[in-house]
Parts: sequence; C-alpha cells; structure tokens
Amino acid sequence: MRFPGGFLWGTATSPTQVEGHIENEWTQFVAQDGGNCHVACDNYHRYAEDIGWMSGLGVNAYRFGIEWSRLQSAPFAPLNQSELARYVDLLDKLRAAGITPMVVLHHFSNPPWINAAGGWTAAGTVAAFVDYVGKLVAALKERVHLWNTFNEPDTYACVAYLLGGFPPQRKWKLGQFRRVIEHMARAHVQASRVIRHQGAAGRKPEVGIAKNWTFFHAYQRFSLWDRATAFGCHYTFNKFVLDAFLGGWRRRASTFIGLNYYGRVRFHHFRAMIPASGTPVKQIKDFGFVCDDMVERYPEGMEKILAYLHRKFRLPIYITEHGSASADEDFRAIDLRQNLAALHRSIQAGADVRGFFYWSLLDNFEWQFGYTKKFGLLAVDFADPKLPRSTKPLAEVYTRICRENGINRV
Ligand code: FCB
Repeated sequence: MRFPGGFLWGTATSPTQVEGHIENEWTQFVAQDGGNCHVACDNYHRYAEDIGWMSGLGVNAYRFGIEWSRLQSAPFAPLNQSELARYVDLLDKLRAAGITPMVVLHHFSNPPWINAAGGWTAAGTVAAFVDYVGKLVAALKERVHLWNTFNEPDTYACVAYLLGGFPPQRKWKLGQFRRVIEHMARAHVQASRVIRHQGAAGRKPEVGIAKNWTFFHAYQRFSLWDRATAFGCHYTFNKFVLDAFLGGWRRRASTFIGLNYYGRVRFHHFRAMIPASGTPVKQIKDFGFVCDDMVERYPEGMEKILAYLHRKFRLPIYITEHGSASADEDFRAIDLRQNLAALHRSIQAGADVRGFFYWSLLDNFEWQFGYTKKFGLLAVDFADPKLPRSTKPLAEVYTRICRENGINRV
C-alpha cells in the first residue's frame, strides 16, 4: 500500500515532556510514579543529537512544541532572544537534515504569569497568546510553514478542569471547561489570522489545531446508562469542541485539521474500561479488549473518523499523533500497521491526508503517569544520568515504512 508522493512521515514530541529545565505549571507537579519533568529527556541540551537520531530513522517531518514560558516573561513582553536563538538553531538543524518542521504553539502548558491570572479560564489570556504568536511567527516565518496552534484542547480542558489530572487539578468544573474551550477557540481564530497574514518563506502557511478523537461506546448496547455516559462524553469532548473550533464561519480559520487518534473507550457500569482510568489490565483482557497501556485499540475507528472529518470539513488532514505505549514491541508493530492500513483505505476513499506523526520520538514524561508509559520509537534510560537513547524494534519497522512510503498489506 503506497502513500501519496510528498507524504510526511514524522514523529512528535512536546516541550514539557522532553526538554527539561522548564518553568511552567508542571515544574512542581509530581506524577503518579513520583517522577517530575525537571530533566525529562534533557532534549533542551540534546536537540542536535535527537535530530541525528531522527535522520537515522529516516523521517522527513518533526512535530514539536515551542515553549511559551521560555520566550515571554510578562504579557506583551519582547521575546527572549537567547531562547529564541536555540529554537532557530533547532529549526536550522532540521532543515539541514531535510526534516520539515510542524510547530505546536500550545501543548498543555502556560507561562507562570498566565496561570497566576487564571490560565485559559481568563479572557485576557486570548490577547496575550495572540501577541506572543504574532512575535514568534514574525521571527520564524522564514523557517516554518506548518503551524499547529493548540494540541488537544479537549484533553487539556477535560483533564485539568474535570478530572483533576493536570494542573490546576480542578474537578467537575464544567463551566470552566467550557470557558477554556471557548477562549482557546477564539485564540485559534485570531492566531490563524496573524499566521496567514504574516505568511511563510515562499510557501503558503498552513494552520490548524490537533483534535484528539476518542470514540466513546457502551460495552453492552442494551445498557442505557452506559450509552448515556458514552453519549455525554462524545457530546462534550468531540462535538462541542469541534464545533467551537471549526463550526460555521470558524472553519475558515483553519487550512488543515490535525487529528490525534489512539482508539476508543468503552463503558461498563459507568466505568471506563481502560488501564489509564485504573481498570486492571487483566479485567480488560478478560473482556476481550485489545489494549495498550492507555486506551482500547480500534483501528477501524481511524477510517471512520477520517471519513467523517473529510465529509464535514473538506480540509486537508494530518495525523498529528498516533502511537502506543506497550512493552510488547510486536503488539506495537501490529497496531501501527493496522492503523496505517486504515489510513491508507481512507486516502483511497478520498480523504486528503498529507502526513502521519508517530507519537513519540522518545520515551518521555507522560504527564500524570510520569515515566511509566513508554511511547518512544527510541528508549531513554532514565536510570542513567547520561540519559542514553537507543532504538527499539518498532523504530526499524517505522524506518522501513518511511523509506518505502508504504506498508505491506495486513
Ligand atoms: C496525547 C498528548 C501527548 C501524549 C500522548 C500519549 O494526548 O497530546 O502529549 O500524552 O497523548
């Protein structure tokens, strides 16, 4: 199964998860395994080495975040020039390696002064963010044409304001959840205007969000309560969020849709049957679910959601994340090939999918789970202060896919 010419085969990371030495709301956060993000993968100092690893993998694209808290110390302040220079150097090294960057502007973190002012529940954050984006884009437009404004606003607002897993760890604040989404959607529209106005060197800038899409289903179809729970989740996290960012006239703000797709969550007696919500892996297996360490795998869903997004929005799509955390590399290889086969079928059926970014380049700081969930193509030995990287078997599988621009039939 060949993919279209010029298809982007990439990998992805985010600043808080890999860089280390960061001052944001995660700095004081202690994960479930006792870990923190103080050093993480030390990619802050080792980005050149990590680009070398990417060249070895044979990827032609890299989706990574620029950390707002490094660049602005106060609202409307000028950008910190030495931190900017580090990101410029990273971009230059990517270009030298023939790797196309996609820059993420917000990935679950804010500068301390934004958090002190109420984070994204505060309306003033919108103007501060748009100011930052204007300055950043002016500085980087010669080097970047793919901009991803917000990573998974749904996950961020849900886990920070409903489930209490991300800072500021609020629970069941539905009003705040909605306000965060509304403000981010407004910021997305304004930031995309700025990005498209500023342009990109010799190319049309592309801009979009990355929407996490999880399918929510009831385990037993006749269980009305589980069906109602699944519908409530779908409505809140998928429909409401998609409408806020892309509904009606707002669709025109985006030139593409980023899709982060991992799988589905099924409910049984109100309980989400996934390891990430505390259901024991053994019980999940007894139910006959195929699962990594996070969610149930559901490759058919990739085709369903791509068909839906294509039909509804008629925009180009990038799979901005897919990956699995499992210690079983054979499982990960099968999962990848099944999802890519579904992606290939979607392209054949007409969806304009232009790239795929494997989550993640490195094992890293997986937010509230710390270092226990390992999504990397490369392993990092966190017990060794030198944090040595090494390839995992999946890296070889992915390298072949990138080189051949395709997969064998599954
Ligand atoms: C996504 C996040 C990413 C990582 C993966 C596993 O929801 O965008 O940072 O946590 O899931």
